[in-house]
Amino acid sequence: MPAPLLPCPTDNPDPAVIERAASVLRAGGLVAIPTETVYGLGAHALDATAVASIFTAKGRPSTDPLIVHIDALAMAPQVVDGDFPTPARILADAYWPGPLTLVLPRHPSVPAAVSSGLPLVGVRCPSHPTAQAIISAAGVPIAAPSANRFGRISPTRASHVAAELGDRIDLIVDSGPCSAGVESTVVSFDGDMAVVLRHGAIPLESIAAHVAVRSIDTTSDAAIASPGHDERHYSPGIPTTTVIAGFDPAHAPPGNVRYLGYEGEEPELPAGWSFVPFGSRRDLDAIAHDLYDVLRHADVAAPTRIIAELTGEAGIGRAIDDRLSRAGSSRIAQSIADL
Ligand code: TXA
Ligand code: MG
Repeated sequence: MPAPLLPCPTDNPDPAVIERAASVLRAGGLVAIPTETVYGLGAHALDATAVASIFTAKGRPSTDPLIVHIDALAMAPQVVDGDFPTPARILADAYWPGPLTLVLPRHPSVPAAVSSGLPLVGVRCPSHPTAQAIISAAGVPIAAPSANRFGRISPTRASHVAAELGDRIDLIVDSGPCSAGVESTVVSFDGDMAVVLRHGAIPLESIAAHVAVRSIDTTSDAAIASPGHDERHYSPGIPTTTVIAGFDPAHAPPGNVRYLGYEGEEPELPAGWSFVPFGSRRDLDAIAHDLYDVLRHADVAAPTRIIAELTGEAGIGRAIDDRLSRAGSSRIAQSIADL
């Protein structure tokens, strides 16, 4: 039987829905929860059996660690072992509640499976009122990956969750579309230096205003490398190729190809190709908001191929470009010869 989909308006969360979600979570069930980034697939983070069922429902490898969600800093001692190091404290003060995940020492009461056996755990305090209310009512930290099947596109609407996981979970709480539209920024620490493991809704440039920060360098950062960062991810299920910003496809071969680009910048296209804009490159927040919905619907009329153009922009453009390049298996075509 498909999971019930319970409406819960963001500006006025329904106490009956919140309590039902909380009681399913306390009992070890799986609940899809709206957050400000994407919908999460929540389970009781301190219940090893509940945590295991997340991996089963998603078809997610056990080597890909989960983020644990708390309702306030006061819940952090249940998840994190010891005090926050100074840069983590500064970032939590600046961005929580909000779309920032901090990777910190895991408390012994958190099952090792949550963080794939690693001594560090990702923790975040979401700002979405529904997520906040559900975690508070459950009274326990909630482990929640994005509520999609492994390797597929993250859900930014309850209908996306229902389509992919509706028959595998207990409940879906529907608070409408997520505001940010891309996942949280994941930050680890190397002494006093913050290291961005995954670009996300909070841009690197904003973090740099608070602490020393750099992006992960996969050649030298093996020790803090972000597990679960598969090269093929966020995938629309139709062969997808990522191309550089400003790509010129005019002389590519004809075919049933969908080209995803930017409003007002439609390039000359070969026969049979069709253009779908992500939005205007001048409004990257709006592009992030709609990104996964556009990718999800890029397969209508069954193209044989999807081509997605990078923004080439800094700020939240880094997160958008990260997801677009993973949708194309992390290969980026510079010219028609690379297609
Ligand atoms: O916005 C978000 O972060 C959403 C919402 C639901 O909160 N969650 C989310 O979870 O994106 P997920 O499971 O799709 O991505 C979690 C990623 C892992 O794949 C890994 O890259 C990183 O976060 N991560 C989690 N725990 C980690 C750890 N202990 N060490 C390093 N990286 C970790
Ligand atoms: Mg995910």
